[in-house]
Amino acid sequence: MDTISLHDTDFGTPLRTSETEVTLTIDGFEVTVPAGTSLMRAAMDAGTQIPKLCATDSLEPFGSCRLCLVEIEGRKGYPASCTTPAEAGMVVRTQSPKLAELRRGVMELYISDHPLDCLTCSANGDCELQDMAGAVGLREVRYGFEGKNHLAAVKDTSNPYFTYDASKCIVCNRCVRACEETQGTFALTISGRGFGSRVSAGESQQFMESECVSCGACVNACPTATLMEKTVIDAGQPDHSVLTTCAYCGVGCSFKADMKGSEVVRMTPWKDGKANEGHACIKGRFAWGYATHKERMLNPMIRKSISDPWQIVGWDEAINYAAGEFRRIQQKYGTDSIGGITSSRCTNEETYLVQKLVRAAFHNNNTDTCARVCHSPTGYGLGQTYGTSAGTQTFKSVEHADVILVMGANPTDAHPVFSSRMKRRLREGAKLIVIDPRAIELVNGPHVKADYHLQLRPGTNVAIVSALAHVIVTEGLLDEAFIKERCDMEAFNSWRDFVARSENSPEALEISTGVPAELVRGAARLYATGGNAAIYYGLGVTEHSQGSTAVIGIANLAMATGNIGKEGAGVNPLRGQNNVQGACDMGSFPHEFPGYRHVSDVATRNLFEKAWGVPLRGDPGLRIPNMFDAALEGSFMGVYCEGEDIVQSDPNTQHVTSALSAMECVVVQDLFLNETAKYAHVFLPGASFLEKDGTFTNAERRISRVRKVMAPKAGLADWEVTVKLAKAMGYDMPYNHPSEIMDEIASLTPTFKGVSYEKIDRLGSVQWPCNDETPEAGTSLMHIDHFVRGKGRFIITQYVPTDEKVTKRFPLILTTGRILSQYNVGAQTRRTENVQFHDEDRLELHPHDAEELGIQTDDWVGISSRAGETVLRAKVTERMQPGVVYTTFHFPESGANVITTDNSDWATNCPEYKVTAVKVVKVMQPSKWQEEYKTFNDNQIHLATDRVVAGAALSAGK
Ligand code: SF4
Ligand code: SF4
Ligand code: SF4
Ligand code: FES
Repeated sequence: MDTISLHDTDFGTPLRTSETEVTLTIDGFEVTVPAGTSLMRAAMDAGTQIPKLCATDSLEPFGSCRLCLVEIEGRKGYPASCTTPAEAGMVVRTQSPKLAELRRGVMELYISDHPLDCLTCSANGDCELQDMAGAVGLREVRYGFEGKNHLAAVKDTSNPYFTYDASKCIVCNRCVRACEETQGTFALTISGRGFGSRVSAGESQQFMESECVSCGACVNACPTATLMEKTVIDAGQPDHSVLTTCAYCGVGCSFKADMKGSEVVRMTPWKDGKANEGHACIKGRFAWGYATHKERMLNPMIRKSISDPWQIVGWDEAINYAAGEFRRIQQKYGTDSIGGITSSRCTNEETYLVQKLVRAAFHNNNTDTCARVCHSPTGYGLGQTYGTSAGTQTFKSVEHADVILVMGANPTDAHPVFSSRMKRRLREGAKLIVIDPRAIELVNGPHVKADYHLQLRPGTNVAIVSALAHVIVTEGLLDEAFIKERCDMEAFNSWRDFVARSENSPEALEISTGVPAELVRGAARLYATGGNAAIYYGLGVTEHSQGSTAVIGIANLAMATGNIGKEGAGVNPLRGQNNVQGACDMGSFPHEFPGYRHVSDVATRNLFEKAWGVPLRGDPGLRIPNMFDAALEGSFMGVYCEGEDIVQSDPNTQHVTSALSAMECVVVQDLFLNETAKYAHVFLPGASFLEKDGTFTNAERRISRVRKVMAPKAGLADWEVTVKLAKAMGYDMPYNHPSEIMDEIASLTPTFKGVSYEKIDRLGSVQWPCNDETPEAGTSLMHIDHFVRGKGRFIITQYVPTDEKVTKRFPLILTTGRILSQYNVGAQTRRTENVQFHDEDRLELHPHDAEELGIQTDDWVGISSRAGETVLRAKVTERMQPGVVYTTFHFPESGANVITTDNSDWATNCPEYKVTAVKVVKVMQPSKWQEEYKTFNDNQIHLATDRVVAGAALSAGK
């Protein structure tokens, strides 16, 4: 196991970069540092640690504790080294009898108001106050403890993950600054004055009642046991750390799994992680308890029919049964009658193996991934215009943006750590354009306000993008030089003529988009002329019938204004799940081998045929929706589904469940008995991210390691299960470790040529393309001098309104999204204390609609569409616009996807989750679907609970 130091070095103040350097003398040693560096940090460079309490290198210095005093020749007094910048020629002393006396005095005051329970304190061994008492040589406390103190202060235990013990607070302000600077939530203040001052959440509220979003930044920053993780209080201090990657969203934060033996005690965001630089959100930081949840299914199981009880069997029996069924089905219904689906929650190595299994052992190309239902239009749109389907920048690049355009994304909830970075840049003065039907938090958040909020009608993204382009073209805002040098001129000319037409003006499109033309004109001018302009977009762009067109439109905007190939600009898809990028890179789509090479390309096919030793098919296989249709037609009868809950996450649930019910062998590999597993005939227990080795690729194309910190609870890691299934199907995949799978990927994929575990271990992460033409760590910024496809290609984006029309029968538009504390289908987060923050999906609607319909917050409301009907509780909110309602989809019983329809993107079949015409009425009882779901679900849980042992192996992994 690769371990890493439990405690990172703290340099006291942030790193400064400057072309100017200054040389000074500290304790007799010369040291040279960039101008702006604090004396405290310069002293660290000279090998001296100055005592400190209120300073830490993730926050700007504050200078309140007065422990870090130094002497500077020629200056009076004892300045604080954390707030004093180094200057050329300074002569500094960090140790002297006077300084020692002053520091002891400061510490004495702190300790005289601190409970002396060090031996039994949860921070014992990891407390900076304790360390500093030792460092300054404190031997006695003259003031005693009889006077006024805070020792009886009440502990706030309201947050499920951490406590606030005010009796231990030294009022260093680190937590307050972390909440402001790192997280950007501004939930904490120091209330009271002088001796009475204390940290307070919100308006002197409990943490759970305040605006706190439980990111844990304050807990990380606290030097004492005042803010402390409950898991550490319960389990004690960890004894070692293993570096790994968050298993949730596409930000891909690096974490240190702080361990005690094989038990995780805490997940600490890694300071040197390039995606997160020491920050985290509630999910990665705290919501990992699902990995040991009692509902984990740890035994392989089989059953003939979904009305039979499950039978527990050994791994070999389950896998041989699945392989036997797949072979039988292929003999009866043909080679194309089975396929495989992976999840973006799987590692690169796992998704690579599943597509290899399908192509080499199933002998067809029926492989697909859940990226089909989220970012497949990104692949298409960016591939067509730029030549490769990935985000162009690093997250850090936003620090150079002058204008930030956020479209169809809600980073505060869905990509929180990136959102914190973005908000920091906005507080520094960058301008913000939000294009979203809802007033997301960024529109008017703490210390952040959108300069333009284009609150468009759902389904009109392409119209808005065309209108923006119209203004840029007709008002002479194009970057002509960039276009001439970098783009295909013929394509540009056609596009320019197209968008210049009056039908594409903001005025002409106002009736469709609902956005006042003047706002669109203002936003276009700002984007085109405001300096470096970066676009960040999400599923609010892709999950539409014109999802691919909108992505193309966005790519056009960046080319038209020269906002590509430089820092602070670019086109950045915010990926929903942790490995959406990787799942696409690994050849999970039915038409592409790894590295986005079409299966019909003979040279590529020959390459893979030679490596894999089998003939391969050159015709694209079935996409997920085609699999469902084929199942209902009787030609697709078996599926291997690894880590993906298609029943809950795909649209038109009743269509999906009918398709699965028509199949003869559904194999589900997952942690829990998810909604799809309730329709399965074979259940193979999955391994959590803590139980396996592999890699994830985040939205920056950054490949990071997932490291095993405990043995797989069911005995096998997921990649081993796929290897066994392939073997049972007659195809050998002889790997000993996932690193060998990555070596194979690198040998067959030009953009991965330079990727290896050895390199990732050495550098922390690498970004593809990583090959002979790129620096060792790969490519951080894409399309610098030329586009991957050569010349950038403008493509005309004709707005075609969706077929999903609002009518008298269905007068409102439903759109869907996420919430911070829950993740995707909720299988993981619902099994953590995150349910305390969000325990049900609600229907949000505007007060105007609510009044018309006689609905109040908390009322039960029936929502019906052309596809189905469900019931949720209402939440009336000004965040919505009249005519548009919204819900999340984290709970299966909500049935959000019972309502969404089969409409999909014209190019990729990505479902149109974001636009469903609905009717909303006040009701008193659940929908028919919900009643049926309850009966079915109760029965399936009963069949799983009463599972019987068949064969010899009861215990996991035997
Ligand atoms: S809670 Fe911790 S970080 Fe905040 S002021 Fe108190 S001691 Fe400092
Ligand atoms: S957990 Fe995060 S949001 Fe909550 S108070 Fe701490 S820093 Fe602020
Ligand atoms: S921002 Fe995303 S990757 Fe980072 S901790 Fe949160 S869920 Fe995990
Ligand atoms: S560490 Fe410098 S004043 Fe506190």
